[in-house]
Amino acid sequence: MNDPRLLSLDSSAKWRVPGRGSWYADARFATAAHATRDPRALAALLRGAGIALAGASVLDVGCGTGRLRAPLHELGAVWHGLDASREMLGSGAADPRRVQGELAALPFADSAFDLVVCCRVLHHLRDPHQLERAASELLRVARLGVACSFWDSASWPQLRRRLGLKRDEGPAGRVARPRAELARAFALSGGRVARFRARPRWLDQQTFAWIEKEHHA
Ligand SMILES: C[S@@+](CC[C@H](N)C(=O)[O-])C[C@H]1O[C@@H](n2cnc3c(N)ncnc32)[C@H](O)[C@@H]1O
Repeated sequence: MNDPRLLSLDSSAKWRVPGRGSWYADARFATAAHATRDPRALAALLRGAGIALAGASVLDVGCGTGRLRAPLHELGAVWHGLDASREMLGSGAADPRRVQGELAALPFADSAFDLVVCCRVLHHLRDPHQLERAASELLRVARLGVACSFWDSASWPQLRRRLGLKRDEGPAGRVARPRAELARAFALSGGRVARFRARPRWLDQQTFAWIEKEHHA
């Protein structure tokens, strides 16, 4: 777990390409249905877990262009963002609540935030040890727990890939994993998956999980 090679993950390389931030902010989630899907899923996940966002401090790890900032703010949370890519942070980098940093070595104290959110990042971590490292860091800085998304291998899009009906992303592509593997990675650092939330699996591979930190203060 303390392998220095894991201290800097290579997962952010493609997000440092010039123009990536403006493409993500303007074109990646172009329709209203697409843009609101993750914020709604996240809110429903936390509501279902009985987690109140009003007044809670939230660290959004791999926050990118800060897409989740407004929806979380509307729910009463105090949002903070961290991303490895200055290109993705864009002009938001001047905001003291957004910091450039690395998921594998978060520059915050233990339990510094009530909750940690990590959306659309973990499927970029191919190596299980990188996932374990990330899980350990996300849990470390959270007081209550972590809400994250990942790609579920037991989903229709992934089955289509296995059947050769959908393009495989190759050895450097994004990775889907079983729910049990995600749960195991967090369990190693004292996290317990309390709930998963997904749209029907034949529609979407992206699944959200709420992971409680055991023995939280
Ligand atoms: C698909 S974007 C998701 C952005 C945001 N969470 C959202 O849902 O809109 C992935 C983001 O994760 C960031 N990222 C990837 N690996 C990272 C790492 N090791 N440390 C910090 N940020 C990372 C990238 O720079 C990129 O902004």
